[in-house]
Amino acid sequence: MTEKTEKIRITVLVENTAEGQGLLAEHGLAFWIEAGSQCVLFDTGQGGALLNNAYRLDLSLSRIDTIVLSHGHYDHTGGLADALRGNRPTAIYAHPDALKPKFARNQDGTSRSIGIPDAAQQALNGHRDRLVLIDKPTPLTGGLTATGPVPRVADFEDTGGPFFLDARCEQPDPLTDDQALFFDSPQGTVVLLGCAHSGVVNTLRYVQQLTGGRPLHAVFGGMHLVGASPHRLERTIDELRKLNIDRLGPAHCTGRTATFALWNTLPDRCVPCHVGTKFQFDP
Ligand SMILES: [Fe+2]
Ligand SMILES: [Fe+2]
Repeated sequence: MTEKTEKIRITVLVENTAEGQGLLAEHGLAFWIEAGSQCVLFDTGQGGALLNNAYRLDLSLSRIDTIVLSHGHYDHTGGLADALRGNRPTAIYAHPDALKPKFARNQDGTSRSIGIPDAAQQALNGHRDRLVLIDKPTPLTGGLTATGPVPRVADFEDTGGPFFLDARCEQPDPLTDDQALFFDSPQGTVVLLGCAHSGVVNTLRYVQQLTGGRPLHAVFGGMHLVGASPHRLERTIDELRKLNIDRLGPAHCTGRTATFALWNTLPDRCVPCHVGTKFQFDP
């Protein structure tokens, strides 16, 4: 499924936490991936931190060849306007449903829009010819693969929130657009998660299925366990332990409770994953 992997360098560009001089945190996620000579941006954060952090980390957004959107929520797509300003990437990959209106129900019963913000949508409209809509596992540049929609198998996982396709909150949003990125390394598969609305266990099991059962070496990103029930948390941690992942970087919407639980349960496996964190994988 995956092409030959090149040396891959990953920098966390946007995340809910930041460490380093002048780096900004925001509720959102973006990974900067250098795969050989190719530059891939996986998600863009919500738009307040991307430019600043790219500047501070000495990463030129004009180098981006490919953008991949994990799903259509604002905290992953809001930086598109900045990412595309003056840039013309070769391709922007997303599932068609990422472009749909998206809403979350508030506790008081009202709703708020959480889809692609207007400015980002306008930027995307200006690059329609670069938009590649995908609905299945798709090999990208540099040995990376986008999972496409993830089969929902685990009975203890769901999308993780009151998400809807309409402002009246009548049509649940299955988040079919949710996808992860993965690539091969000598130690096993490396997976980057956006929000894992399909469930982190579902996602990792699917990646293993797509890679012929290769061991999972590293998993970084959002696991959307914020607000997860104790039962879901327990089952998830149990499954993650069984998957025997060498390096686990819970980030973004994993949430504090789950993040602390993971660090407590798997202290020798968990690694930081905040703005400025760098990971490198040799071919
Ligand atoms: Fe998110
Ligand atoms: Fe999300």
